[in-house]
Amino acid sequence: MPDIESLLKETRVFKPHKEFTKQANWNKKQVAEYRKLGAKDPARFWAKMAKQNVSWFTPWKTTLQWKPPFAKWFVGGKLNVSYNCLDRHLEAENAWRRNKAAIIWEGEPGDTRVLTYGELHREVCKFANVLKDQGVKKGDRIALYMPMIPELAIAMLACTRIGAPHNVVFGGFSAQALRDRINDAGAKLVVTADGGYRRGSPHALKPAVDEALKGCDGVETVVMVKRTGEPTNFVEGRDLWWHEVMAGASAKCPPAKLDAEHPLFILYTSGTTGKPKGILHTTGGYLTHVTTTAKAIFDLKDSDTFWCTADIGWITGHSYVIYGILANGATSLMYEGTPTHPGPDRFWDIIERWGVTIFYTAPTAIRTFIRLGDEHPKSHDLSSLRLLGTVGEPINPEAWMWYHRVIGGRRCPIVDTWWQTETGGIMITPLPGAVDTKPGSATLPFPGIQAEVWDEEGQTVTPPNGGFLVLKQPWPGMLRGIWGDPKRYQETYWSQYKNTYFAGDGAHRDPQGYFWIMGRIDDVMNISSHRIGTMEVESALVSHPKVAESAVVGRPDEITGTAIVAFVTPLGGIQADKELGEELRNHVTKQIGAIAKPAEIRFTDALPKTRSGKIMRRLLRDIASGKETVGDTSTLEDYSVLAKLKESEEG
Ligand code: PRX
Repeated sequence: MPDIESLLKETRVFKPHKEFTKQANWNKKQVAEYRKLGAKDPARFWAKMAKQNVSWFTPWKTTLQWKPPFAKWFVGGKLNVSYNCLDRHLEAENAWRRNKAAIIWEGEPGDTRVLTYGELHREVCKFANVLKDQGVKKGDRIALYMPMIPELAIAMLACTRIGAPHNVVFGGFSAQALRDRINDAGAKLVVTADGGYRRGSPHALKPAVDEALKGCDGVETVVMVKRTGEPTNFVEGRDLWWHEVMAGASAKCPPAKLDAEHPLFILYTSGTTGKPKGILHTTGGYLTHVTTTAKAIFDLKDSDTFWCTADIGWITGHSYVIYGILANGATSLMYEGTPTHPGPDRFWDIIERWGVTIFYTAPTAIRTFIRLGDEHPKSHDLSSLRLLGTVGEPINPEAWMWYHRVIGGRRCPIVDTWWQTETGGIMITPLPGAVDTKPGSATLPFPGIQAEVWDEEGQTVTPPNGGFLVLKQPWPGMLRGIWGDPKRYQETYWSQYKNTYFAGDGAHRDPQGYFWIMGRIDDVMNISSHRIGTMEVESALVSHPKVAESAVVGRPDEITGTAIVAFVTPLGGIQADKELGEELRNHVTKQIGAIAKPAEIRFTDALPKTRSGKIMRRLLRDIASGKETVGDTSTLEDYSVLAKLKESEEG
């Protein structure tokens, strides 16, 4: 990994500003105390956080039951997530929050909606009653395939109110991907919209739902929000309009008292096989983790307007657009559309107009903005900002410095937060009032989290060597399993080392113990901060009738981090040309979604394989990135393949 070199040479250190530290939710003393407790007795630390930050109907009896690799947190405790995100902010001494903005929403065309805590509570209760009227019971799964509109937040919170786990499917996924997720989760009801706005035009969603449901016998009902008003297919007896069912719904719905380990949601993410994994999160531990981290890392205060730019279709949106932010009673901004519509300054315009104080985005977005030019952020007043965050992929020090200088005006701390769909919440991160930052480093584990970098034998590596990032102790937000596949759960995360979580990332630590995350070490690519499995794209390609074989690798890309390159062997007699390349690209889009569309397709009549038939991806990665192959090729079965590959035709 060439980036390792440059990252390791990074010597700049930024100390927290005194003024920030003075007002921080967690100051240096507190952080030191929490680190000590978290190291000595992580369960006690988290129990303290669960008491401090979450409201329980019934206290738990056992903080942690750990039968590796299965953890149960806060056993015996009862709570409700929507109660924590809404009701408790409307009661007693918090009642003043009734008219405080919970969600500030801005549509791409410029329409806006502000939902106060009082209003959001009302809408959530109403939709929870709609779900009940449709026969949804505790434990039933609900699929949400929606644009970034307030109804998505309402639907999620309504699910949590009655204990129906939601399964949000990113609106950019195809009908096929949606069908697979609905079936795997066994969802009974789908909430969707006619469409949403992307890049200045309405983008239909409902046709994908209609298509997906041709192969989903378990779905009885579809509730559809009218967002774009474009003509839409409507299936009588199955489809319902959101506004019609909501009109008659009661706004009274007591929150269900759920076990701490009651399933909260399933969210699919890519792995090293062709089939995405349904990551399962449960109630009490997840809420404790996201609420605590949001308060400490983002320094959330009542006066903040917090904007996380992630789509709710990904874990970042779940944890830090919705749950962690609303559970703290803060104001969460939600934006529907693309960052560059109608102009390259849309994000900065939003920050200025709404007075956003905390901004959390991905390095890929930052790199895009750098390329678009400083004049766009500079033409807006960004002085409301007081803290910045990044997530999703390693940030290169230069992008960090630009973010610090141009967006943060050199005054805002930057929190580079490492975590995963599986971890539920942030794991390695600066604490803005207490930890010195270094551009490109996610710094140190959050208190109560025990991360290490190990070699293959499970020995701690010492600087400057790199190794595998592992987590040595269970944590409250950790995934509880892969939906319907305990074996895969065990194999994916717990088989490399005994009783230790294997994150799938490579990392280094510097002499101060800071973590420098180097990226995935498995066959998972990180495309614009979104995980796509190479196998997933390969399965999509070989499902095309003209393809015999394919191998997919990532190559470094300045903007998206990684770009997808597919090496394809067509079936005998098939013409490999630009037309076929385009056909295959569209085929992948149809199978998975536009995010998985290969940037490049290269035709070849053979793929490099070992004598045992394994594709040598390392060679392909070198070829895709235009590098001379320096690695060991002694196990290559047919040397002539290498030469041919270098000359392979681009389709
Ligand atoms: O490779 C790491 C990278 O994103 C992966 C997790 O992807 P996903 O489950 O989609 O969740 C993304 C948002 C939480 C990780 O295995 N990653 C995430 N954050 C960082 C990161 N890599 C480096 N630095 C980060 N801050």
